[in-house]
Amino acid sequence: MSDKKYRVIQWATGVVGSAALKYFIENPVIELVGVLVTNPEKVGKDAGDLVGLPKTGVLATDDEDAIMAMDADCVLFAPSMMTPPIDNVCRLLASGKNVVSPAGPFLPNKWIPEEAARVEAACREGNSSFHGCGIHPGFAGDIMPITLARLMNRIDCIEVTEIIDKVRNPMIYTEIMGFGADPEELLANPRRSPETYKFFYSSMAMIAEALGKEIEEVTVKFEVSKAKRDIKHEFGEVKAGTVGGQHYEWTAWVEGAPLIVYHFYWQLGEDLDPLWEQGEAMYRVRIHGDPPLECHLMAQQDPDGRHPFLGLPWTGLVGCTVVPQVCDAAPGVVTHMDLGVVRPKGLVRR
Ligand SMILES: NC(=O)c1ccc[n+]([C@@H]2O[C@H](COP(=O)([O-])OP(=O)(O)OC[C@H]3O[C@@H](n4cnc5c(N)ncnc54)[C@H](OP(=O)(O)O)[C@@H]3O)[C@@H](O)[C@H]2O)c1
Repeated sequence: MSDKKYRVIQWATGVVGSAALKYFIENPVIELVGVLVTNPEKVGKDAGDLVGLPKTGVLATDDEDAIMAMDADCVLFAPSMMTPPIDNVCRLLASGKNVVSPAGPFLPNKWIPEEAARVEAACREGNSSFHGCGIHPGFAGDIMPITLARLMNRIDCIEVTEIIDKVRNPMIYTEIMGFGADPEELLANPRRSPETYKFFYSSMAMIAEALGKEIEEVTVKFEVSKAKRDIKHEFGEVKAGTVGGQHYEWTAWVEGAPLIVYHFYWQLGEDLDPLWEQGEAMYRVRIHGDPPLECHLMAQQDPDGRHPFLGLPWTGLVGCTVVPQVCDAAPGVVTHMDLGVVRPKGLVRR
């Protein structure tokens, strides 16, 4: 066993970044060397204090240039998408640091050719690697179904479903996402652009490639459900008759038939008309074919018997666990196909 340590910077400490920061402080194969924050209240704080751990001696900074100049093997880049991330991703790569990022451009694909070319060029300049990480895209809609395909005799269609109850798992974007809006108004102007599937396309294309097929087109469907009563949530209230649930559906067609379907069911509780899914938070993969298969990815039960949504911390962790292999990879964009079976280091600590 090698005792090599990887020098890592955590960029941004939101929900995703905090899960990653905790991992980096606690994992024995990682040495945390820097933390970038934007929140003025976090500047100058010890990294340990930001995530409820003992002091590390690493202080959070908002000085991007200092982070760019720092010597490190890898940056886990997890800022909000309020600022387009591509410039900083490319600066970090060109400065010689590998980047693992849940903030676009994920795994470059044909729909984002300019970003793909810029990331490749920055990797060449810095002799560095880029890997896009996340729960979805990044895990539930690509590695998971590809792995499960090993258990199949014949595949007719793969459905990947994200189900989040936003009452039990509150998110600050609830209003921005259109909950509480007039149903007709939201149907005409969905908050998630019909183009969004293009950022998930790498995952769809990866499944198709793994199965030796090519996607012909992707079709998009959007529907809403109405709140049957006023529904309170942590960031406000949704009135009866307004939007209480949203279902986005993207279908990738192969040889004239649906091969891969992604569903996103976002619901505020269960008093909804229609109620498409019971409120358990999960990623579900159904593979129709022979033999039919269903797999649920969910957190362990809370004491009340329900399953919390862990998609955001998982997005950080799936990035952290791949850091050593991305650092050790040849320069360029590193996909799941390049990585093969990832072997996380330092997880077992008796
Ligand atoms: N692929 C996936 O499955 C997946 C899933 C979830 C999220 N994501 C992506 O992961 C990233 C992090 O998610 P999150 O839930 O942790 O996000 P978040 O809570 O919205 O924001 C993360 C952090 O970004 C920093 N920030 C705030 N305003 C900013 C601005 N205007 N420009 C740049 N940075 C700003 C803040 O860092 P400080 O608090 O440190 O100042 C904030 O805490 C997002 O880009 C999100 O889209 C991907």
